[in-house]
Amino acid sequence: MQQITILQALSQARGDIGDTDARLLLQTVLNVNHAHLIAHSDQELVPAEAQYLHQLIARRAQGEPVAYLMGKREFYGLSFKVTPAVLIPRPETELLVDLALERMPLDHSSKILDLGTGSGAIAISIANHRPLANITAVDASADAVAVAKINARQLNVNNIRIIEGDWFGGLAGKRFDLIVSNPPYIAGSDPHLAQGDLRFEPQTALTTGGDSLDCIRCIIASAAAHLVAGGTLLLEHGYDQAEACRQLLDKAGFCEVFSRPDLAGIMRASGGVWEFPRETARI
Ligand SMILES: C[S@@+](CC[C@H](N)C(=O)[O-])C[C@H]1O[C@@H](n2cnc3c(N)ncnc32)[C@H](O)[C@@H]1O
Repeated sequence: MQQITILQALSQARGDIGDTDARLLLQTVLNVNHAHLIAHSDQELVPAEAQYLHQLIARRAQGEPVAYLMGKREFYGLSFKVTPAVLIPRPETELLVDLALERMPLDHSSKILDLGTGSGAIAISIANHRPLANITAVDASADAVAVAKINARQLNVNNIRIIEGDWFGGLAGKRFDLIVSNPPYIAGSDPHLAQGDLRFEPQTALTTGGDSLDCIRCIIASAAAHLVAGGTLLLEHGYDQAEACRQLLDKAGFCEVFSRPDLAGIMRASGGVWEFPRETARI
């Protein structure tokens, strides 16, 4: 393979996969930052680097997500390891962390549960900003749990316990101040599952294969038994699921039920507070 410089590699790759992806993949291959590419544009790639770049460009051109090719994704200011075993954390999910931090005071040792933790993005971000909190993170996928544990270790977060389990299955008798979840919420029949990045992500992170509200319904139905009085449940959901989600929360007896938009103005998260059963409250 003919030797090429950083500048030449970038201009060749740009045509196949665009400016940003070309830059990110070259940074991955050389293990350098953007500034290095600019400052050393005449640096020659050794043959192994050029070949690795060539492979990554071909995989990207086939649609593989950049985050999986790079092996990482930034979320809430932290760099998370991602593999095809976990959902790539989305910017809109940062809303859930904002809402959690708003509700959990810095000086309290709150108990927080993240259901369906995947890479650990939500749980680890909260743990990082609330060092006194006690976080439990659960995922049904053993491979996802392994990735989340690596992330917690690499990001030096110690106030977190990451366990394999089916929603509340391994948490009998445990209660939390806050339960947060970004569960699968795409209907099994949704054609988007066969398009774009979603084709490469774990299907079990995206859908149950059935109704889009399956997981949300299941989590809301069991959450009250795992919240302290005054505890909060926060859920991310699809762009068109806010009303359905609020109705489910309301029907389950939650108070102060609300929805919040993400930065794009899409109603993306809903939640409510568990006081105690309304029947009891009226007596
Ligand atoms: C949409 S992904 C969210 C991942 C991560 N929390 C995030 O926001 O980037 C949903 C996660 O729920 C997990 N999951 C699906 N069904 C589950 C179940 N029954 N019990 C626990 N976790 C489950 C999946 O493995 C996946 O990691």
